[in-house]
Amino acid sequence: MQAPFYGHVRQYLSIKSEIDAKINEVLMSGNYVQGPMLAAFEKQATAYFGTKHAIGVGNGTDAIWLCLLALGVGPGDEVITHPNTFFATAEAAWIVGATVVFVDCDPKTKNIDPALIEKAITPKTKAIIPVHLYGQCADMAAISAIAKKHHLIVIEDDAQGIDGRGDTFRQGELSDAVCTSFIIQKNLGCFGDGGMIFTNRDDINETVRKLRNHGSAKRDQHSYGFNSRLDDIQAGVLSAKLNHITAWTDQRIAIAKLYDAGLAGCKHIDLPYHTPGYRHVYHLYVIETKDAAQRAAMLKFLVDNGVDAKTHYSIAIHKQEGYPWGKQVRTVGSVANAEKNAASCISLPMFPELRPEEIQHTIEKVRAWDKAQG
Ligand SMILES: Cc1ncc(COP(=O)(O)O)c(C=O)c1O
Repeated sequence: MQAPFYGHVRQYLSIKSEIDAKINEVLMSGNYVQGPMLAAFEKQATAYFGTKHAIGVGNGTDAIWLCLLALGVGPGDEVITHPNTFFATAEAAWIVGATVVFVDCDPKTKNIDPALIEKAITPKTKAIIPVHLYGQCADMAAISAIAKKHHLIVIEDDAQGIDGRGDTFRQGELSDAVCTSFIIQKNLGCFGDGGMIFTNRDDINETVRKLRNHGSAKRDQHSYGFNSRLDDIQAGVLSAKLNHITAWTDQRIAIAKLYDAGLAGCKHIDLPYHTPGYRHVYHLYVIETKDAAQRAAMLKFLVDNGVDAKTHYSIAIHKQEGYPWGKQVRTVGSVANAEKNAASCISLPMFPELRPEEIQHTIEKVRAWDKAQG
C-alpha cells in the first residue's frame, strides 16, 4: 500500500471536462495573455473571496514583492516575519532591497507570535508579513492592532491559506493586501506557476496592475514595471477549479479530523493545533516529533512503509546559507520555537482526493512507529 503526497492527476481527472472546456475556450479565443479569461477569473475571485480587487500575477513570490514595491518598501526598510516559513516569504522582501527581521513563531500555531512583534519594531520598520502557515490564518486581529498603532503595512502571505478565515475576520479585512500562490501543489493550483493579490485598496490595485505589465496601463505608454502576468490558460484552469474549492477545503478538514482521531494518544508526536473558530484549510497536516533524530527515524520508517511524508520546512530561513543578500537579515530574541518546528516537522499526505485506505494506512504506520518508541 502506498499513500501518495500529491493527487494532481486525480484532481484533474475528477473535473477533466470542466477544465478541458475552459482551456479550449482560451485556445479558440486566440487571447492568451491579459485576455478575457484572466479578467473573468479576476472577477470570479473577487466575488468568492470578497475583496474589492484581485490581480493575477506570475507567481506567489511576485505577488508579495510587487505589493511591497507598490507600497514603497525598499532599501533601508525593515520587514518583520518569522523564519519557519517557505523561503519565498523573506525572499520577496530581499528582492525589493529590504532587511528581513525574524521573530519567533507561536509554539502551538507555528504562525508569527504577535506578542513578539512590538519588540522588533524600529524606526526603519515598514511592514509585517504574517504567513497563514500550513493553512491556518495568523492572528490577524492582534497583528493589525499593532500595525495600526505603529503605522505599518500588513501583507498576508496566503500561499498556503486560500479559502481560510479567522473567527472574526476574513482574509484581506485586516491588512493592506493578501498574496497567494497558485503553483500546482497549493489548495487552488494551476498547471504551472501563478499568483494573485487580493486587496480592498484602489491604489494598490492600480499600481500593481501597471507593475505586472511593464508599467503600462494603456497601449504604448509605460512607466516603471516588469513582466509578471497570470496567463489566460492558467486563469481558465483556476476558474474551473474555483467552483470546487469549498468542497475541496471541506474534504481536507474531514481528512484532518480522521488523522486527529486516528493519531490521538500517540505519545511521541504532537498533532497540529487548530485555533477555535478558525477555518483551517489544512494545506498541510504537520505533526512534530520530539527532535531532529526522531524526525529522521520516523520519516525513514514512513517512506520505507509506503507513506510519502515530507518536511515543511526542515531548515529555518535564518539558517539557510549562501543567499547573496543574506546580510540583510536579523533575528530579534530567541527563535527557538521556529527552530524546533524546522527540526521536527513531518507533513503527512493531505489532499482532497486522498482515499480512505491511504488515510488508514498512514494512521497505522504513524501509530506503529509511535508504539515502537515505547
Ligand atoms: C508560504 C509561502 N510563501 C510564498 C510562496 C511562493 O509562491 P510561489 O512558489 O508561487 O512563488 C509559497 C509557495 O511556494 C509559500 O508556501
